[in-house]
Amino acid sequence: MKVTVIGTGYVGLTTGVALAYIGHYVTCVDRNESLIEKLNIGEIPIHEPGLVDLLHDSSSHLRFSSDFNLEEASADVILICVGTPTQQNGDADLRYVEECAYTIGSALPEGHEVVIVNKSTVPVGSARRVIMIVNSVLTDRGVSANLYVASNPEFLREGAALNDTFYPDRIVIGADEKWAVKTLYEMYAPILEQTFIPPAGLPRTDGQPLPVLVTTNPTSAELVKYASNTFLAMKVSFANEISGISERVGADITEVMKAVGLDRRIGTRYLGAGAGWGGSCFGKDLKALNALGKQYGYDMPLVDATISANYRQRRIIVEKLQQLLKVIRGSVITLWGLSFKPDTDDLRDAPAIEIAKMLIDLGARVRAYDPVAMDRSRREHQELNIEYADSPVESIQGADAVVLMTEWEIFKKLDWNQIVKCMQQPVLIDGRNFYNPSLLINYGINYVGIGR
Ligand SMILES: NC(=O)c1ccc[n+]([C@@H]2O[C@H](COP(=O)([O-])OP(=O)(O)OC[C@H]3O[C@@H](n4cnc5c(N)ncnc54)[C@H](O)[C@@H]3O)[C@@H](O)[C@H]2O)c1
Repeated sequence: MKVTVIGTGYVGLTTGVALAYIGHYVTCVDRNESLIEKLNIGEIPIHEPGLVDLLHDSSSHLRFSSDFNLEEASADVILICVGTPTQQNGDADLRYVEECAYTIGSALPEGHEVVIVNKSTVPVGSARRVIMIVNSVLTDRGVSANLYVASNPEFLREGAALNDTFYPDRIVIGADEKWAVKTLYEMYAPILEQTFIPPAGLPRTDGQPLPVLVTTNPTSAELVKYASNTFLAMKVSFANEISGISERVGADITEVMKAVGLDRRIGTRYLGAGAGWGGSCFGKDLKALNALGKQYGYDMPLVDATISANYRQRRIIVEKLQQLLKVIRGSVITLWGLSFKPDTDDLRDAPAIEIAKMLIDLGARVRAYDPVAMDRSRREHQELNIEYADSPVESIQGADAVVLMTEWEIFKKLDWNQIVKCMQQPVLIDGRNFYNPSLLINYGINYVGIGR
């Protein structure tokens, strides 16, 4: 099958590479020319485990282009994977998705049959909006084509994007016409039926059930994505809220949530207390769901509370530092980890960045070490004047406190005797409840976790 993917960020690149690997002929298009130049020489612009190797393995089925012309428009399926950032009013900004619709309409050849897919996270009605734009451009050009539209939300997690693409729990296809569902079934068949040979280093787990195909109308598919992300964010915010009461009554949140999660109706995942969630999706998607509620005059108090509990959690880290150090101005505070979670370099809505900002505003010197996200931080957050170190040990020289913000494995394998010696004061705030407290206390570290 011929597939064109528009937008080669975290979602588009992963999807394009995976579809090429399972045998489709894929063109990945991005208007960012420097990004396409990099991809054309086999370099990837993001940090995503396994992606660069798979790109090389799939290169015979993969091409990259910064143009969208006849060749790119002549695909059986066109996947829109561009960003949908937050507007001032919280709603998703559909500008890039709509640009794609114009581009597609301008290049589709006469009589061509194609399924256009919104893989971007988009508000309800976006499938209809896309088809309307494409049709109006075609009418202006005097061209007719057989267009089908589908909503196919993406659920991958950065850092595990390939795993989630090859072994998803479900694939959701929202479409009104059977042809669109049939075509997308064909595109995903090797994944739905698990007939592909697993890529090197990404084995299929024994006994893993086949992904479930959910077919529905476009509106339900669009809502599924917002509801899923809100539910996951709500679980984390819930654990964080319980962590506050845990601290007050003398319970240990890690023990509490472990036992809570063992109830199969609840499940153990997304129940870790800490500095709160971040990343490109949760904050943006919760705000968009809230905005949707407002458009319908419908209050969504759980969504509101999930958001406010999360941002309170970031302030709690700063409050803990104030309690421990008393005076923040003039102190040196080290952040271990900048990305919003391990195995990615994504800094969008990363708690570490907001905490760095709060500490700098309070007069602290902020130093950071992150194994992959420092280059991106230098590029995207020049205004912050964070000092960057070359190693975890270098980062804590003379520091008054260190805050573990991202649970990268490298932060487990440290020489704690050396750490204690290098710091001005051996204060460690564990913003992810990553460490065994008694182990660190035995080294003489003043350990403070979240809710324990
Ligand atoms: N990142 C995730 O973990 C994730 C997971 C699930 C869903 N999503 C959703 O998928 C969508 C894409 O997210 P992402 O993180 O991959 O975004 P991204 O910012 O990493 O990538 C988007 C890419 O689209 C390109 N682009 C924008 N407009 C274009 C146009 N008109 N023509 C060609 N290229 C264009 C940009 O240059 C950029 O490279 C969003 O709606 C997001 O909410 C993201």
